[in-house]
Amino acid sequence: MCTDVQEIINQRKRELLENRIVAPDDILSQMLLAINEEEQFLNESRDCASYIVGLLQGGYSTVNAAITIIMKYMAEYPDVYSEVLKEQMGIDNSKTANDLLNWEDLRKMRYSWNVASEVLRLAPPVHGTFREAIEDITYDGYVIPKGWKLHWIADDTHRNQQYFQNPDKFDPMRFQGNGPTPYTFVPYGGLEMSKVQELSVYELNERDRGSPAYLRLSQKNVNSLGDLVPFSNKLYTADLKKRIGITAGLCILIKHEEEKKGDRYEAVYSFYFGDYGHIAVQGPYLTYEDTYLAVTGGSGIFAGVSGQVKLQQLIFPFKLFYTFYLKGIPDLPSELVSPQPAAMRLILRSSISALSGRELATEFAPFAKGGNRTLDLLLKRHGAEPPCQL
Ligand code: HEM
Repeated sequence: MCTDVQEIINQRKRELLENRIVAPDDILSQMLLAINEEEQFLNESRDCASYIVGLLQGGYSTVNAAITIIMKYMAEYPDVYSEVLKEQMGIDNSKTANDLLNWEDLRKMRYSWNVASEVLRLAPPVHGTFREAIEDITYDGYVIPKGWKLHWIADDTHRNQQYFQNPDKFDPMRFQGNGPTPYTFVPYGGLEMSKVQELSVYELNERDRGSPAYLRLSQKNVNSLGDLVPFSNKLYTADLKKRIGITAGLCILIKHEEEKKGDRYEAVYSFYFGDYGHIAVQGPYLTYEDTYLAVTGGSGIFAGVSGQVKLQQLIFPFKLFYTFYLKGIPDLPSELVSPQPAAMRLILRSSISALSGRELATEFAPFAKGGNRTLDLLLKRHGAEPPCQL
């Protein structure tokens, strides 16, 4: 296998040297082009080859084993099979022939994911790996001295009665809701860093502090490259009942999209969740469609966070709805995650139409008149706390 990999590496290197790869965005090209802090390339036959073999091993046999065993269980449990089929067909029917699967589709595969998780619990493709004790530890009455190697086994934890009732029973529903206790379901290793947590919030602009401001640094009459939009808005829970913080940041105009009647901004801003901490984000803010921004970091309960946030403009630029997909942090407090958006999008759209006869402003400047009054009315109507200054 290593000889084959070496041959592929040599070939890719030739292609790169001869400029035959236009956009070298595959992982092997990136490894060959990467330089370390001493401005040295990776050693091809030692580092690149072993990383590629590692990725092939890690990515192939695990997924392969998991899919095979999923098939086995679905053959044994026809009711499980028909539920999975129903869920998958529902997603399939919502898409056209050329649509690719996206993150939102994956989020809809809740039952299918429960089935996959139950398979990974009962038949983890990686049964365990080694760890080194970095200090003396005592476990179950045994002392394990610092420096000793341990082999942990996922199956033992996955079939522990203390954490899984009827542990030998195939039951995808045990992953419904909050799922197993943290660190008891460990098919990917000891940490739960791959777990994705959803958090939805509204950002409301009540026009009480001149935000967002449109600064025409370009000094042109039309929106142009380099124009700035500083803003600070209010942040509400997904049920609009509680004010939880503010957003603050800056948008920089990158491109005016004539045919879309809108603009593309690069946005850099923070969501301050009061005592909970903050989440920093960066990425596109498009005035003509929904976008995804990267979560670049956080503090407090969000320390170490990574992931994405979907930005939906319900009423541009006054009302936005965000869904965060957060990784790398402990479970979020329930008061932040439990409020349901409760179809607010529809309610608010119809309320806005009833109040103003049409949706509010479609461009930043001049701002739509009456935005403040309209939002006050909406907040009252939906029982939110009155706006307050942070
Ligand atoms: C069902 C799918 C998978 C399972 C159950 C699985 C399981 C695991 C486990 C148990 C480990 C050891 C973690 C530890 O030591 O704590 C591991 C490490 C690793 N896996 Fe996977 N894996 C899966 C899919 C993949 C895929 C698709 C890839 C790559 C495309 C991949 C690449 C790796 C790599 C590179 C490591 C080593 C990470 C490190 O040492 O820091 N795995 N995986």
